[in-house]
Amino acid sequence: MDDYALKAALVILRAAQRIAILSGAGASKESGVPTFRDAMDGLWAKYDPTQLATPQAFRANPRLVWEWYAYRRDLVRQARPNPGHYALAQLQHLRPQTVLVTQNVDELHEQAGSHQVIHLHGRIFQTKCFADCRGSPTLVDEDALPPTEVVPPPCPHCGAPLRPNVVWFNEALPIEALQRAYDAFATCDLALVVGTSGLVHPAAGLPYLAKQRGVPLIEVNPHESAITHQSDIWLDAPAGEVLPRLLEGLRA
Ligand code: APR
Repeated sequence: MDDYALKAALVILRAAQRIAILSGAGASKESGVPTFRDAMDGLWAKYDPTQLATPQAFRANPRLVWEWYAYRRDLVRQARPNPGHYALAQLQHLRPQTVLVTQNVDELHEQAGSHQVIHLHGRIFQTKCFADCRGSPTLVDEDALPPTEVVPPPCPHCGAPLRPNVVWFNEALPIEALQRAYDAFATCDLALVVGTSGLVHPAAGLPYLAKQRGVPLIEVNPHESAITHQSDIWLDAPAGEVLPRLLEGLRA
C-alpha cells in the first residue's frame, strides 16, 4: 500500500461525520475466523460449506447442518477481536454518527466495543425455530431447553427443529436490519468498505448507494474485489494493519 493512498484516505476521513461502514469476512480474517471459501479441515473437508448453508440442506439433513454450525461456533468462540475491529470501534467513538453494518455472524465487532452493529446475515450464537413459529426470527434460549437426545433439539413452542439464526443462501435478509443499512448508506458522507468480496447481494450493493450520490468510497482489502472498481481509494493491505494507521492519523 502506498503512503499517498493512506494520506488521501485520511483527508477524506477527517472531513467525514456520518460514516457508513460495511464489513465482511476479511475483517475477521486476522482473528482466525475461517470464511466459507477458506479450505475446511479434517472431518468437514469432504463437504462444500456453501452447500451446507442453505434451507434445502437443512431440510435434507438437519443433523449434519446443525453439527457443522456447532463446529463453526467452536471456531468463532476461540477468536478474539483484532486491531482492525478495535480501530473501527474507536472510529465510532470519535465519529458518533458512524454506522457499522456487518455481514459477519461472529460478534467480534461488539467484543471490540462497537455499538449498535447492524447484522445483515444474523448471529451464529443465536438459535431460532426453523419454522419461525412466533414471528421472524423466533429466537430460543438454548440454555433454557429441557435436556434432549434429539439433534437438532426441537422448538419448545412448535416442535420444529432449531437452527442457527444466520441467513443462508436462498434466504431473505432480516428486513429491519436491511432497511437500517440502506438508510445509513443513503445518508452517509463517507462509505468505508472493509474485507468483503462484494459478491453477495444485497449487501454488496450498499456502497453503491453512497457512490451514486457522489459520496467518497474507501475500500480496505488486500485483494481486488467486486467493489474495487467503484472505490475512490483502495487501501490494499490487511484491515488489522491499515485501520489502526488510519485511526492514528485521525487522532494526530
Ligand atoms: N483484511 C481485509 N480484507 C481481507 C483480509 C484482511 N486481512 N483478508 C482477506 N480479505 C478479503 C478478501 O480479499 C475477500 O475479498 O476479505 C474478503 C472476504 O470475502 P468473502 O469470503 O467472500 O466474505 P464476504 O464478502 O464477507 O462474504 C459475504 O457470503 O459466505 C457468505 O453469508 C456469508 O456473509 C458472507 C457473505
